[in-house]
Parts: sequence; structure tokens; C-alpha cells
Amino acid sequence: MAKLNWGMIGGGLGSQIGPAHRLGALADGHFTLAAGALDHRPDVGRDYAQSLGIAPDRAYGDWREMLMGERNRPDRCDLVTVATPNATHFDITKAFLEAGFHVLCEKPMTMTVEEGEEIVRIAARSGRICAVNYCYSAYPMIRQARAMVRAGDIGAVRLVVTNFSHGHHGDAADAENPRVRWRYDPAVAGVSGQFADCGIHALHMASFICDDQVETLSADFASTLPSRTLEDDAMVNFRLSRGTVGRLWTSSVAIGRQHGFDIQVFGETGGLRWASEQPNQLIYTPLGGRTQIIEKGESGLCDDAKRLSRVAIAHPEGFPLAVANIYCDLADAIRGTPRDGLPLAEAGLRSMAAVHSAVASARAKGAWVDARPPMFR
Ligand code: NAI
Repeated sequence: MAKLNWGMIGGGLGSQIGPAHRLGALADGHFTLAAGALDHRPDVGRDYAQSLGIAPDRAYGDWREMLMGERNRPDRCDLVTVATPNATHFDITKAFLEAGFHVLCEKPMTMTVEEGEEIVRIAARSGRICAVNYCYSAYPMIRQARAMVRAGDIGAVRLVVTNFSHGHHGDAADAENPRVRWRYDPAVAGVSGQFADCGIHALHMASFICDDQVETLSADFASTLPSRTLEDDAMVNFRLSRGTVGRLWTSSVAIGRQHGFDIQVFGETGGLRWASEQPNQLIYTPLGGRTQIIEKGESGLCDDAKRLSRVAIAHPEGFPLAVANIYCDLADAIRGTPRDGLPLAEAGLRSMAAVHSAVASARAKGAWVDARPPMFR
């Protein structure tokens, strides 16, 4: 099967998420890294792109230059990844979708709900795929959890509880470090800090496993360091459309918690538990029965869990291979086999609506608000 051409915007030398995309996209042989505008400094980006094997004429200094250079090539990129800082996602994603490219955009997909709705409309109109990198949903055991919920293994879901709380911004002496400070600066990060950064992964995961959508929420935001304008800690209560009760805690000052992303789903006849720091295990307790560890790689798993797993039982497959699973689903979708686990622009839009609703709720002392984007009400 011919490889697909892949281009990258952002994710330059020293970036946090760039290496995970390259490891992920190239892991299964679906894509070739053909083009890139990798850095906000044009020369640095061109040099780095060539060091990764990108041909000099496709090592661009700027994303607009890349759009002009790629759009009329016979071997143009099939897929473009947007891994730049948040405020640039909308313009880049919109421009590439309108030019007929498939796009994988980092989260958050946009800064406003209106922009999110526009991306959903453009993707529908253009017939191109716009995916959002909710990569945790692509861990094999998360696909297994969703399949078990769908199969009724825990009955109707009553309660979902999720945390994405780490302590990496808890050091007051490091608060002015530029790599930390921007995340709490509204001029750069937008209306929300920690909830928009990490909380939306947890909220997406709750919707994903429960196969349902967030309808209403109530939020309490706190900036625990006096120098911070935006929240570094949030507690969000929510309801899914079928009545499931949701609880979410996200924090960046929870010293001692490392990655700190976990989820528990409690149904009428059982419960499930998963933690990103032990991603190979899904913990299942049937009502009245013993707690079981369901292990990635064992027999009897759902098709997605089998399809998206590469190495034998008990060997770890970590974060870059979860990202690789997003690229596998994308490659299949581009080649004509849509995968229903792939997070699309609609999920990016729902997150943005939840972020803005949570901000409104927090300002109104936790009032319950509609969390749905206007176009889905
Ligand atoms: P970073 O600051 O470490 O790296 C950003 C990169 O983008 C740098 O190489 C920079 O030179 C480049 N860049 C900036 N503006 C550019 C432009 N106009 N054109 C081309 N390149 C440009 O940021 P980080 O942490 O890698 O985050 C990037 C995005 O990825 C953010 O939206 C973030 O929310 C998201 N992210 C997602 C994660 C996930 O789990 N899905 C995890 C970490 C980040």
C-alpha cells in the first residue's frame, strides 16, 4: 500500500508534543514526513525540517508558505498536523481544510465556540477529515472500556469520576518561568488555564467511554498562586445527556501527582477503572463479584483493542503509540475506512463549549449552565 504524505506545522526542536507526533505518525508505516513548517523562527524551522529528512524545497519557514507550496503539488500532503500553540490552531486548520487537506489539530481546537462551529462547518463542506488529538482515547484499554460500556457489561452508567491533576506548576518559585507563565496569561492561553489544558482531556474521556455527551455543568475555578490570573485548579460537576452524573478534578498544583490522569465509571452492575500511568490495565468489578485486571494483549478483547496494540501481553505501549493509534485511524479514514473512535472536529467544538461554559459557571459561583455548543442544542 502506498504511503501517505504527511506535513507538520509546529512541533519544532525542543517542543513538548512534536516528538510524540513524529513517533506516532511514523510508527506503523502509513505516513512519510514530506513537508513541515516546524518553528516560529523560519530558519530554525527549515534547518530542523531538513535534519529530519524533509527535502529542502518542502522545509518551509512559515505555514502560509507551506500552504502555497503544497497546494498545487501532485505529491502534496495528504494530512497536515497542527501542533503549534493554541491561539494559532483556528487560522491554520481553517486554511488547510479549505485548501482540501485532511487535518489533525492539537487540542484545544480553537479559542472560541464560534471558531469551533466554523471548523465543523468547513470540514463538513469540504468533505475533509478534521481530527483533534484526544490521544488518550486511543489507548487500547480505553477502547476496551468503551466497548464494555456499549455491550452493557456494567449496565447503565450512573456515575463517571475523572481526574487530570499533576503538580508540575506547583512551585511558586518557578511561576514566572516563561514556559509556565503563558498558560495562566489570558492574552496567550485564552479564557481558561488548567481546565482548557488538561481538564478537557478528562471531559472528552468521560464522554468517550460513556458514549454520551456533556449537557450541563457547574464549575469552581481557583488560582492558588496569587500571581496567576487564570485557574490552576478546577472542580467541575457535569451531567451527560442520559443522566450520568460526572465529577472532574483538574489541577496543576497537586504536588506529588505526576501525570495524574485517571477515570472511573460506575454502572448499575459493575465498575471500570483506568489510569494513564498504568495504561495496560483496565480494572473491572462486576456487582457482587471479584475485581479483575483486564490486560492489554490478553484474549477476548474488543476488535479495536486488538487492532491498536502491537506488542505482546505485558509489554508497555505508552503515550507515543496512543498517538500512533490516532494516526492509524486517520490513515484508515483517509483511505476510505472511517473509524468511529477517531475524535473529530465535533469533539473539539464540544470541548470549547465546555470550557466557555465552565468559565461562565465559575464566574457565577458555580451556577449550572448549558455546556452544549449552540449548533448542537
Ligand atoms: P511548545 O511551546 O513546546 O512547542 C510549540 C512549537 O510550535 C515550537 O516548536 C514552536 O517553534 C512552534 N511554533 C510556534 N508558533 C508557530 C507557527 N506560527 N508556525 C510554526 N511553528 C510554530 O508547545 P507544546 O507543549 O508542544 O504544545 C503545542 C500544542 O500541543 C498546544 O496546543 C498544546 O495544547 C498541545 N499539546 C497536546 C498534548 C496532548 O496530549 N494532546 C500534550 C502537549 C501539548
